Amino acid sequence: MSSQVSEAAQQLVNSVERVAVVGAGTMGNGIAQVFAQAGYAVLIIDPFEGALDRARGTIENSLGRMVKKEKITADAAQTILARITFEAGIEAAAGASWGIEAVPESEALKEKVISALDAQIVAGGVIASNTSSISITRLANYTERPESFVGMHFMNPVPMMKLVEVIRGHKSSDTVVEATLELSRRLGKEPWEAQDYPGFVANRILAPMLNEAVYALMEGVATREAIDEVMKLGMGHPMGPLALADFIGLDVCLNILELLQDELGDPKYRPCPLLRRMVAAGDLGRKSGRGFYDYS
Ligand SMILES: NC(=O)c1ccc[n+]([C@@H]2O[C@H](COP(=O)([O-])OP(=O)(O)OC[C@H]3O[C@@H](n4cnc5c(N)ncnc54)[C@H](O)[C@@H]3O)[C@@H](O)[C@H]2O)c1
Repeated sequence: MSSQVSEAAQQLVNSVERVAVVGAGTMGNGIAQVFAQAGYAVLIIDPFEGALDRARGTIENSLGRMVKKEKITADAAQTILARITFEAGIEAAAGASWGIEAVPESEALKEKVISALDAQIVAGGVIASNTSSISITRLANYTERPESFVGMHFMNPVPMMKLVEVIRGHKSSDTVVEATLELSRRLGKEPWEAQDYPGFVANRILAPMLNEAVYALMEGVATREAIDEVMKLGMGHPMGPLALADFIGLDVCLNILELLQDELGDPKYRPCPLLRRMVAAGDLGRKSGRGFYDYS
């Protein structure tokens, strides 16, 4: 596969030594871990109290599980962890040649973080966003290097999931897109390119399916268990749609549907009233202890 990569893209990937990941939450710590596993020196940056300790704990546990399963040795786990530096301030990203932001899904917040990252990443370096839904073309405008800005949409849990959706912004250069695909392969992932349209591929298709499952429940087509089992047994999905919506977070599902409806202007994406009602009630799925199922 790598033989199809242009020399310029190879060179860009080969120049990457230090990687800065901004945001040490669910996605950021997984992204830091996979880069460290692939041999990169990684900085993970988060100013919020406790975030870095939690990230370190999550990475230690994840590596510990890999040791238990004999996928890596205990020594290798230590070496991987030692490649990660935990920092509170964005200035620590100075000199890194690849930056990835994984802060919460708010454009105002991402604007701040991306422009701050732009001031630190080396000239010629790349900035990527892990956004699930915000336009890569718009986010690229918060840098002085829109041609070197891409979407790098990892899936949760990052160490387990093979897919990286690589999103080409309107001004992303061919070299940067190719380099992002190649770098993702070097992380052991299977990247696929998508154009910058709302929801890209994954959420454009997933969100309406989850929404339809909620409509089916609301209309009494079947019980929650029946809906989930039909999709598992009949379609080979590893998880039923209602259980998956609980896993993702019902507020996140609602946000994505609203974005698809607003930006594509098509009423077929309208969120199910039951989904809205559950979010209003604070039943957000696993993270709140209750969604379509009870996790208390
Ligand atoms: N969770 C998922 O399943 C998933 C999947 C794919 C993509 N995403 C996307 O990844 C991004 C991050 O999501 P997440 O689930 O990891 O969120 P999260 O809330 O778990 O983590 C976000 C982290 O960013 C930190 N943060 C907030 N402001 C910051 C700042 N100014 N500088 C540095 N760090 C800051 C927070 O302290 C937190 O640790 C979002 O854009 C989301 O849409 C999430």
